[in-house]
Amino acid sequence: MGYLKVESVRRQTRYGMSDTHIPVLQEEAITALAIVPGKKYIDATVGAGGHSLAIVKKGGVLLGIDQDQEALRIATHRLEQEQQKSENWTFTKGNFRNIEALAKAHRFDQVSGILFDLGVSSMQLDTPERGFSYRFTDAPLDLRMDTSTGDTAAQLVNRVTAEELYDIFSTYGEEQLARKLADAVYRARSVKRITTVGDIVEVVTSVVPGESVRYGVLSRIFQGLRIAVNDELSSLKQGLEGAKRLLEPGGILAVISFHSLEDRIVKQFMRQDGWQLITKHPIRPGEEEQEVNRRSRSAKLRVAIKQ
Ligand SMILES: C[S@@+](CC[C@H](N)C(=O)[O-])C[C@H]1O[C@@H](n2cnc3c(N)ncnc32)[C@H](O)[C@@H]1O
Repeated sequence: MGYLKVESVRRQTRYGMSDTHIPVLQEEAITALAIVPGKKYIDATVGAGGHSLAIVKKGGVLLGIDQDQEALRIATHRLEQEQQKSENWTFTKGNFRNIEALAKAHRFDQVSGILFDLGVSSMQLDTPERGFSYRFTDAPLDLRMDTSTGDTAAQLVNRVTAEELYDIFSTYGEEQLARKLADAVYRARSVKRITTVGDIVEVVTSVVPGESVRYGVLSRIFQGLRIAVNDELSSLKQGLEGAKRLLEPGGILAVISFHSLEDRIVKQFMRQDGWQLITKHPIRPGEEEQEVNRRSRSAKLRVAIKQ
């Protein structure tokens, strides 16, 4: 592609994905959940299982949910390697928008705590063929967390109107050049169908030639596409509602978000009646964590107790 270095070397585990996700705000989240041994907890976003493992190690009985089958395989392997007793944890594939049904199907009718650690995992970002990262220009433009269902980003980008593209880039990507970019993508796809990450990178490069700003634009465009493809904001709203119904009185909700769109939803949700807000201001990673794990830099943890 010429514009960005093509990284075709796959960082693989035996399952085909890198397994290098460092859990964000782990200590703070686990402390906030105040795990009582023998009580039931839900990790709504298992990922590589870092938070799940910590909950089980503290004696919590865990139901873990993720819509990414590969993540569950990696996390399962991890908890087995750590020799955690199988009666203390169960992982199930599903979208957390259905958290209530998923929990009830596993006899988690009332729980003491629920954790959401939102967004993508490093495994997803670092696996070229998932299409989550603009670094891998020869990758298919996919961006689905659940690869078994729904439209890929390529299908979406080739189908929607220019106005819808603008909405995705401006509302979900919070990108100021959304109009120009939407028009450019619309024009490009009428010449040739957009199929790869590189096709989008090429369009962005034509609108934003300067390298120093381009990477920021690309991050925001990919954030927008990811949120649209996975319908992330409405899943979050539904997941939080379901979580509230599942928590027993005194049960704890902890949510880690990574951008302002998610955080706004969480903040407003916890300000509603029926919650005792624990974090008036969100908990942020310390300097050391931010240094070690760049991905943690935008993280915010909010915690509330169900009344
Ligand atoms: C930031 S990672 C979680 C990392 C995990 N806490 C750990 O310690 O490894 C987010 C995970 O949530 C999953 N996810 C995001 N949205 C989801 C949804 N609506 N339903 C189910 N899983 C979702 C992603 O597939 C990803 O594996």
